[in-house]
Amino acid sequence: MISTNRIIIAIDGPAASGKSTTARRVARQLGYTYIDTGAMYRSVALKAIEGGLLESIRRDPGQVASILEGISIRFEGERILLDGRDVSREIRDNRVSREVSFLSSLKPVRDCLLVMQQALGRGRGVVMDGRDIGTVVFPDAELKIFLVADARERARRRLLELQAKSEGKTALPDIETLEREILERDRADAEREHAPLRKHPDAVEIDTSKLDIDQQVEMVYRLARKTEAAG
Ligand code: DC
Repeated sequence: MISTNRIIIAIDGPAASGKSTTARRVARQLGYTYIDTGAMYRSVALKAIEGGLLESIRRDPGQVASILEGISIRFEGERILLDGRDVSREIRDNRVSREVSFLSSLKPVRDCLLVMQQALGRGRGVVMDGRDIGTVVFPDAELKIFLVADARERARRRLLELQAKSEGKTALPDIETLEREILERDRADAEREHAPLRKHPDAVEIDTSKLDIDQQVEMVYRLARKTEAAG
């Protein structure tokens, strides 16, 4: 049953805590739109890499304006379009994963995507996941969730994901390397100056270390229905 009281659900948390899988499935069950804001930051990073602009942006962060000017980032169902091109696969490349923390720490990038994200949620009925959705993008979201999990468990999940994607065709990093990279990204996201990863005081914290994905989805779905009903 689709509710008439459509809300905004903000899901934040560190890398590989299960945000996107949970958000996508909860959105589907509620008949809501799912917005993956990490994919938007990844698209900006991809544009910088493909344009060969990373080094000049590192030297002079103001140069990032040339990427943002006229940039178009759109969602079409599960696909993400950067300047009209489907980049759903490219944004998951390792190179993008390594550089995205740097690009997402820059104020002009955050300001630009903030405007886009707020516009995407204006009609409500959205589940948006990221690092600053409950704190900065939609501090008035009716339901705020903060997902956490042990770093080793997150590395294990990331490895399973990579194994499924590579189908045994490419060499994979070991779990220790993945855990190190995850912790490094957590540190960069939590310590940056602009919109760092933080739990909003009203957010419901869920530790997913010992939950499977169905349990995680069920918990958020129930909270969403309760919040809709209360509105
Ligand atoms: O969720 P993800 O791994 O796809 O996110 C990629 C990067 O984007 C992550 O390192 C931090 C950044 N990000 C952010 O700064 N703010 C958001 N709302 C979403 C992602």
